Amino acid sequence: MRRPIIAGNWKMNNTASEGVTLVKAIAPLVTDANCDVVVCVPAIDIPAVSEALKGTNIKLGAENVHFAEKGAYTGEISAAMLLEYGVEYVIIGHSERRQYFAETDETVNKRTLTALKAGLTPIVCIGESLEERETGKTEEVLATQIKDGLKDIEDITKIVIAYEPVWAIGTGKTATAEQANETIAFIRKTVGEMFCPKCADALRIQYGGSMNAGNCKELMAMPEIDGGLIGDASLKAPDFAAIVNFDK
Ligand code: PGA
Repeated sequence: MRRPIIAGNWKMNNTASEGVTLVKAIAPLVTDANCDVVVCVPAIDIPAVSEALKGTNIKLGAENVHFAEKGAYTGEISAAMLLEYGVEYVIIGHSERRQYFAETDETVNKRTLTALKAGLTPIVCIGESLEERETGKTEEVLATQIKDGLKDIEDITKIVIAYEPVWAIGTGKTATAEQANETIAFIRKTVGEMFCPKCADALRIQYGGSMNAGNCKELMAMPEIDGGLIGDASLKAPDFAAIVNFDK
């Protein structure tokens, strides 16, 4: 059985003090969660949010990590810097990073290997664009992202994959539950062929893209979907808590 994982991705929203207010509102609403609950927050929010999460069942995540251990990388954040504040998860290769910050499967791979080495759990994002879906390239695109982005990983079960169709992110357009389930099954099969079928069975794969309080139950009822990476709906405590409590 794969334990579901619901993670918020705040993106570039919430100052540290706003973030503290938000997690204090979320915490009492999710105490009975039957899943892993994570908030991935802007780097500068990490110290304050980390403090506010003490004694709760919510884990802390970052939105990116650099692949070098340390050095001359102005503006970047290392794994050691995250670990010092109790960060356990890190989003890698989000489509916004790929689109606006020149992230490639190669840099995704480097960041993922560095995160794993440091003991962080990478949430690696993959997904096709609208044009790629409409021209029948979805599987080809995902297979490349998996082959190049996940190569040389020793234990694939130590990562989480977030399948996020780019056309569904922040657009209010969700993939149908069946579409998401089918695509995630393809991802699991591809990972199984690249690593081992048993590992693919144990690997957690989230859906992301306009998941919200209204559609989470249907998505989470799908056998292949092990959780969600939540953008917009993670910024409001009742909405995020409703998703975390999808099974209640
Ligand atoms: P969204 O974002 O829920 O606002 O679509 C999801 C994500 O980008 O991770």
